[in-house]
Amino acid sequence: MLDRIDKIAEEAGRKIAEADSPAALDALRVEYLGRKGIVADLMKRMVALPAEQKPEAGQRINQLKQQTSKRLDERKAVLGVPAADAESIDYTVPGTRPRVGTEHPVNQTLNELLRISANLGFEIVRGQEVETERYNFEALNIPLEHPSRDAFDTFYLHDDVLLRSHTSPVQIRTMEERTPPLRIVAPGVVYRPDTVDASHFYMFNQLEGLMVGEDVTLADLKTVLHLLFQSLYGERVHVRLRPSFFPFTEPSAEFDISCPFCDSGCAVCKKKGWIEMGGCGMVDPKVFEAVGYDPERYTGFAFGLGVDRIAMAQHGIHDIRLMYENDIRFLSQF
Ligand code: PHE
Repeated sequence: MLDRIDKIAEEAGRKIAEADSPAALDALRVEYLGRKGIVADLMKRMVALPAEQKPEAGQRINQLKQQTSKRLDERKAVLGVPAADAESIDYTVPGTRPRVGTEHPVNQTLNELLRISANLGFEIVRGQEVETERYNFEALNIPLEHPSRDAFDTFYLHDDVLLRSHTSPVQIRTMEERTPPLRIVAPGVVYRPDTVDASHFYMFNQLEGLMVGEDVTLADLKTVLHLLFQSLYGERVHVRLRPSFFPFTEPSAEFDISCPFCDSGCAVCKKKGWIEMGGCGMVDPKVFEAVGYDPERYTGFAFGLGVDRIAMAQHGIHDIRLMYENDIRFLSQF
């Protein structure tokens, strides 16, 4: 028995040394150490030996097992890496740095606006992108016959559930939960099934503002807008309001800022000297009624501005589609 073990050990050593591929080594491992392999067979035979021979035979079989396993591992380490590669790896070459992303240009502008708003005492509130008609329209005094309520002008999910077409529903949700005074800004994505072109996309970002108190006036609105854009673009920026109409504000206005990028007309302001920024106005008493505020006691202002448009003006981007194509060549410039 002992002679036999020696012979097997010797033969295994030779075969392992001669093996020339990891696959050949795997086959040898099965042949010797497998469940029905040579070592297992020796174990079985040992059981039949006279008692006094068993300990030594057992010990030698174990040695054989360990030695064979170790030889297989060692040979595998040598064969595992093809010789040519093993030599060509230069461990001193610096690694490839993983690409670190940057903030999206729209988010950069949005975060800057949020930081400025917070400095002006406005709290940041998040609404929800899926809304009901009540929050998107009714409570905002938008009548049933208003074109934006038409299914073709809005993304309806079912019945009266839709993707919000503006961030103004956050005004309602906030007022329903709180009592005045309040000062909030609500950033977020809104959806409109516009035909996509250089200045329209079916999804874009707005920043909504709302201030309600006992003596909030139009002068406060203009001051806040002025401070907001001065902080963003510098002291020289002016804000102007143009009369307009929104069902949820009275009076309503659209507001422009003087072009911060030129003195005498450039591509960003299209030589007009002013850039359109969004809509605003004094909260309509009907809106206060819808949320249970006393319109005799409270006044307030609201504004909504297009964040993408501001980011585009800031960076001289002329096509909104670039913002959402996820093209790393475009995004990595910011
Ligand atoms: N919600 C309006 C829009 O999306 C903008 C707006 C907000 C106007 C607040 C007035 C007050 O066009």
